[in-house]
Amino acid sequence: MTLSLYDYAILTDEECDALIGKAKAQLGDRCVILGHHYQRNEVFKHADFSGDSLKLSKDAAQSTAEYIVFCGVHFMAEVADILSRPEQIAILPDLAAGCSMADMANLMKVQQSWNELAQVLDVENEVTPVTYINSAADLKAFCGEHGGIVCTSSNAQKILEWSFARREKVLFFPDQHLGRNTAYRMGIGLDEMVVWDFTKPMGGLTVEQIKNAKMILWDGFCSVHQMFKPEHIDNYLAQYPETKVIVHPECCFEVCQKADYVGSTEFILKTVRAAEAGTRWQVGTELNLVNRLSEECTDKTVQFMSPMLCMCSTMFRTDPQHLAWILDNLVAGHVVNQISVPEKDARLAKEALNAMLTVV
Ligand code: 13P
Ligand code: SF4
Repeated sequence: MTLSLYDYAILTDEECDALIGKAKAQLGDRCVILGHHYQRNEVFKHADFSGDSLKLSKDAAQSTAEYIVFCGVHFMAEVADILSRPEQIAILPDLAAGCSMADMANLMKVQQSWNELAQVLDVENEVTPVTYINSAADLKAFCGEHGGIVCTSSNAQKILEWSFARREKVLFFPDQHLGRNTAYRMGIGLDEMVVWDFTKPMGGLTVEQIKNAKMILWDGFCSVHQMFKPEHIDNYLAQYPETKVIVHPECCFEVCQKADYVGSTEFILKTVRAAEAGTRWQVGTELNLVNRLSEECTDKTVQFMSPMLCMCSTMFRTDPQHLAWILDNLVAGHVVNQISVPEKDARLAKEALNAMLTVV
């Protein structure tokens, strides 16, 4: 019989800490724990590998462990399942750990939009569908089926170059900001980009707007990163003009334009860690990452960008109680919270993910 989560919910973090350590020792190489940079400390410290979405996808693909426990969000565990061998098992400690941005696009809406675009364009020859890795597996499968590809925050430019080398337009979902910020950096003007409002027929656009656009940006966003505002940068720079500003590309255009550096979570960590002692940094990404970076880089000043607490509440769902619960079940021979992508979606999604992995 599987162990009940209720018995773990009443344990303290310290009690869970001890259980996690014991279970990890018992499982040994049979289990690997992957931890995204936004995980809270109590969970993050148990990760065997940490990274951004691209690095963790590669870690999952290369892992030989029987169990891949993903301390992250749902789409990440799906990617681990798709890229690992069939006999490996991907596990998400809390099944409610989703990504609100990923949920802003779904297959029905994307398929409907594709059909609408097909009324005015030769979509299969003119449009490359590109999905941010923050999306459900069936959207990655959609891209695989239509000659498209997956991107992450660290390879978006290379993926757009790959896409434009094949077809003249890109339909980019679900994050309009990553799409816009990356395309603009490549020299594509804002006047060559349109936002596809998925609640309106034809995305709320005219035929002329669609025909003239190079980038068709899905109207999705990350609510955590939309809390960083250009005035947060202005106010801080007024006080400390020597500050270097570094942000995640899910931030809005105006914030990215004001930043000195824009990149993935792994890029942010590497850049600040490598900076000279005594430098001052203002960082626009999730709070757990920034707090940990600030504690680690005692020779620098690392300041969180917003006066509000910008935490990813779904990343936060993974707590030591869930982690202890799933690991103890594995020790007892029970798999709980397995993430298993249906075979057809997995095959097509793998095509789009492998296309990405051959580019970067
Ligand atoms: P990274 O791939 O940069 O870690 O980003 C993932 C994410 O969800 C950012 O909000
Ligand atoms: Fe999704 Fe935003 Fe959380 Fe990243 S920070 S997992 S994009 S909701």
